Amino acid sequence: MGKRKTDKIVFTNVDVLDAGAKGVSVAKAPDGKVIFIPNVVPGDVVDVQTFKKRKAYYEGKAVHFHEYSADRVIPQCQHFGACGGCKWQNMLYEKQLYYKNREVFNHLKRIGKVELPEFEPIKGSDKQFYYRNKMEFSFSNARWITEEESASGEEIDNRNALGFHIPRMWDKILDITHCHLQGDPSNMIRNAVRDFANEHNLEFFNPREHSGLLRTLMIRNTSIGELMVLIQFFDNNKEQREMLLDFLMEKFPGITSLQYVVNQKANDTLYDQNIKLYKGRDYILEEMEGLTFKINAKSFYQTNSEQAYELYSITRDFAGLTGNELVYDLYTGTGTIAQFVSRKAKKVVGVEAVPEAIADAKENAKRNNIDNCEFFVGDMKDVFNAEFINTHGHPDVIITDPPRDGMHKDVVEQILRIAPEKVVYVSCNSATQARDLALMDEMYKVTRVRPVDMFPQTHHVENVVLLEKR
Ligand SMILES: C[S@@+](CC[C@H](N)C(=O)[O-])C[C@H]1O[C@@H](n2cnc3c(N)ncnc32)[C@H](O)[C@@H]1O
Repeated sequence: MGKRKTDKIVFTNVDVLDAGAKGVSVAKAPDGKVIFIPNVVPGDVVDVQTFKKRKAYYEGKAVHFHEYSADRVIPQCQHFGACGGCKWQNMLYEKQLYYKNREVFNHLKRIGKVELPEFEPIKGSDKQFYYRNKMEFSFSNARWITEEESASGEEIDNRNALGFHIPRMWDKILDITHCHLQGDPSNMIRNAVRDFANEHNLEFFNPREHSGLLRTLMIRNTSIGELMVLIQFFDNNKEQREMLLDFLMEKFPGITSLQYVVNQKANDTLYDQNIKLYKGRDYILEEMEGLTFKINAKSFYQTNSEQAYELYSITRDFAGLTGNELVYDLYTGTGTIAQFVSRKAKKVVGVEAVPEAIADAKENAKRNNIDNCEFFVGDMKDVFNAEFINTHGHPDVIITDPPRDGMHKDVVEQILRIAPEKVVYVSCNSATQARDLALMDEMYKVTRVRPVDMFPQTHHVENVVLLEKR
């Protein structure tokens, strides 16, 4: 780790040059070093106060604007700036797409160093707000006090908050009154839960002492109007718990699935928890192109349903299936891509590490009357071996959609040994995708590339690449 210095320097009249990684913009200091500045847009001219100095760069904050960029828009959200969620809400959507596309291009070019076809135009999201189908909010009795609040000098007696973690501060929660990422009734439910808890003196979680009643709130909805609400409690207080859950059911009768968990572990992840059903059924249903998918509290499902459809359509198009192919869908999750392409394939084999996801995949396929998909559980690098190929057949096409780290090198090597005609590589991290493409470059040529924006107002971008055998 480099030595941290916190010298505060002010650089005046600095041109913001570029939108850099992680949604933070980039400028140059007079000494030639880079300055990373949040909440500004390329084209702004600002005075910057630095708060961190490293060997190669500064981190700073805009303290005065001389000029505003033509690419700016007024952020819709009142929480913009303090909340780390939508860092690009102050930038024109077309520009967001431009920077996302360029990041993918730069990664494939500089890290991958592979020959590239002309990119197909980045697929933007029709919905630029309220596009998420899942949100998780945290309770805390240590509310983040915004700069305006502390400047106002007003006394603050209620420190309870229900909202998002302040970036890099594990114990501070920004109280959210309106989030633009998930459509209603998400905001109504979160606010009603907070108000009810305050009125009835239900204790918000104390993150330092690990005490209190209320820990997290998860809300999931689907395009066919189904709704899941899950409250995570810390204290096991049946009376208070049921008071809150009964209130929710009465106030929001449209809830399809009301669940809860009592978790007294140090961390608040749900994956190893015994989730209890309170009312309704323990899953909700989503539909896509006539297929139905069951989503339970722990299931992975793409968080922007409409763009997931676009992503899968591009993936299927890139695969160019005729009906005769054996397709492997690696990192299949709940088997959504596998089922989405299955009508155009002879058979699809899906592989995934999480057993619950594979159980869902099998159940969904049955529900959808799909009989040409098979699903298998295991860590990809172990299960996807020569014996597996001997048993399940030699794929003509491999679709792969790994997590952010990309594919394990043994998995890449196995793909090269199998050498299918085509590989469709779907990725949420074009840097690791680029690394993997470089490993496959000798055998495969990149013939199509199309980024897809699943997450407007953030810097995240998905990318689909078609590799064809040379
Ligand atoms: C980006 S998600 C893709 C999910 C799916 N394609 C979809 O669109 O819903 C990546 C998936 O890889 C799985 N995964 C992560 N590491 C794995 C590994 N080592 N072996 C097998 N699957 C893994 C995760 O559980 C997750 O379901």
